[in-house]
Amino acid sequence: MESQILEHKNNFLSALKGVSDNAALEALRVEYLGKKGYVSAMMQSLRGLSGEEKKAAGQLINTLKNELDTAIRAFSENLERAKLDKLVASAREYDVSLPGSGSYGSLHPVTLVQREVEEIFVSMGFSVEEYPELTDDFNCFEALNIPAHHPARDMQDTYYLSNGQLLKTHTSAAQNAIMRKYGAPLRAIFPGRCFRNESIDACHENTFFQMEGIMIDEDISISNLIYFMKTMLSEVFQRDIKVRLRPGFFPFVEPGFELDISCLICNGEGCPSCKDSGWLELCPCGMIHPRVLEMGGIDTARYTGFAFGLGLTRLAMMRYGIKDIRDFNSGNLKVLSQFKS
Ligand code: DAH
Repeated sequence: MESQILEHKNNFLSALKGVSDNAALEALRVEYLGKKGYVSAMMQSLRGLSGEEKKAAGQLINTLKNELDTAIRAFSENLERAKLDKLVASAREYDVSLPGSGSYGSLHPVTLVQREVEEIFVSMGFSVEEYPELTDDFNCFEALNIPAHHPARDMQDTYYLSNGQLLKTHTSAAQNAIMRKYGAPLRAIFPGRCFRNESIDACHENTFFQMEGIMIDEDISISNLIYFMKTMLSEVFQRDIKVRLRPGFFPFVEPGFELDISCLICNGEGCPSCKDSGWLELCPCGMIHPRVLEMGGIDTARYTGFAFGLGLTRLAMMRYGIKDIRDFNSGNLKVLSQFKS
C-alpha cells in the first residue's frame, strides 16, 4: 500500500507541473480526489483488510488526500496570482502620460463658454485668476461688507465645514485676496465653482459656475462697466446686444445693479422666454463699495472700480438653449457629448 501511495503522489506531482489553467487543474483533482478517483479506489480496496492494517493504511491514504488537496489549493491560488500579474503587466504597457492620438470626448458646455469669455476679457487686458472652492467667513462675507445678519450666511444657504471653513457661495469671495495680491490698477476675472444649499429643480442647482470680474483704476465709472459688458456679450452671442441696468442691492457694491440683455429669442419684441418684457436678467454688478476697496488695501481717495458676477452656468444655458440646469452636472452623455470644442 505504501508504495502505491508513493507512486500516486509522484504521478500527481509530475502531472501538476504540466497544468496551466483551472480546467486542467479541476480534471486532475477529479482524477485523484473525485468520487471515482484513485484515492477513493484505494479506500475501497481496504475493505478486505483486518482492523489494525485497515486503520494504518487508512491513515496513510488520508494523509495523501490532505497533501493532494493542499497542493491543488496552492496551485489554484498561484494561477489566480499569475493572471493578475499578467493584467497588471499589460496595463503597464500603456504610457498614460503620452498625448492621445485622437480627440476623445468633448468639453463641457460651461468650460466652452468659460474659455470663450476668458479669451474676450484677456484681449481687453484682464488677467484670469484662480481661487479655491474652500474659503472662510472673512473672504466670502466679511470682506464683502456682508454683515453677520445677512441671509447669505444662513446655514440654509451656505455649506459650512466642521473646521470653520465653508464652500464658497459666490466668486466674489476671491475679491479681497486678488485686490491684496495685485493692488491697483487692476483688471481681473476669476471663474469658479460655487455651492449653495438650494433645492434642485430645472432652474436651481446647488453647484454652479460663476465668473467674477473686477476693474479698479482712476476714474472708473458705470459707463466703463457698461462698455465692457456690452462688448463681451456681443462677442459671445455674435450680434449686437442691448443692455440695461436696473437698481439691485448687494452689500459689496454701491450703487448696485441688475444688468439685463435684450431677449435673444425675440430680439426685444417680447415672447414667453422673456415673459413679454423683451429683456433677460443676466448679470448683477455695480461700483465696488469703498469699504470693500479699503479692506482690499486699495487707496479709495485715488481709485474706484466696478465688479460683476456673471452666471456662467446661466450664460451656457442661454448660449446653447439648454432648458434644464440639472443637465450640467448629470453626467448625461446624451446631452453633454453634443458640445464639441
Ligand atoms: N456675488 C453675487 C451673487 O452671487 C453676485 C454679484 C453681484 C457679484 C454684484 C458682483 C456684483 O460682483 O457687483 O449673488
